[in-house]
Amino acid sequence: MYIIYESDSGFTKRYAEAFAQKTGLECHSLYMARIKVKKHSDVIFFGRVMQNEIDGFKKARKKYNILALCPVGLRMPTNAVIEEIAEKNELNENLPKLFYLRGGFDPEQNQGLEKTLINLIISDLESKGEDLNAVDAQYLSDLQNGADYVNEENLAALLDWYENC
Ligand SMILES: Cc1cc2nc3c(=O)[nH]c(=O)nc-3n(C[C@H](O)[C@H](O)[C@H](O)COP(=O)(O)O)c2cc1C
Repeated sequence: MYIIYESDSGFTKRYAEAFAQKTGLECHSLYMARIKVKKHSDVIFFGRVMQNEIDGFKKARKKYNILALCPVGLRMPTNAVIEEIAEKNELNENLPKLFYLRGGFDPEQNQGLEKTLINLIISDLESKGEDLNAVDAQYLSDLQNGADYVNEENLAALLDWYENC
């Protein structure tokens, strides 16, 4: 089994590397996996969430046997948030096993097209005013001010699954 990740600002990479350290599994970025990981290998995939889509997952699922999938997003880990991600990425209930992880956001690192996208998301959330629910109010605040929720304890459920699979 291998760990493969797709990360831009590094929060997803931190989770993937922490999990590699806990398990001794080989860990590669999706880019490096092209030469390091054979087709059809069993994989735990970590990908950052963008507009509910798990970055790199579409590509990775064509090539590898993804047994566990760890989307890393900024929003709170509520059932509704996880269901939106499952739906957007066309996941069914069995495989891969889904472990949502809360990442972080650094406004300083956010540039170019993604900065434009974030500004659109921020304007959209701001326009909802009083109608914003608790999840989106926190999301808005974290996009504006930055946040870091990466915590190795969040890997406990994944580790438990791995040790029993
Ligand atoms: C353009 C853009 C869209 C995003 N969309 C979402 C989203 O739909 N849901 C969410 O929880 N986080 C979203 N985020 C936040 C990222 O998922 C979060 O910052 C993640 O930890 C980044 O991982 P990385 O540091 O590995 O790149 C978005 C970030 C960007 C830049």
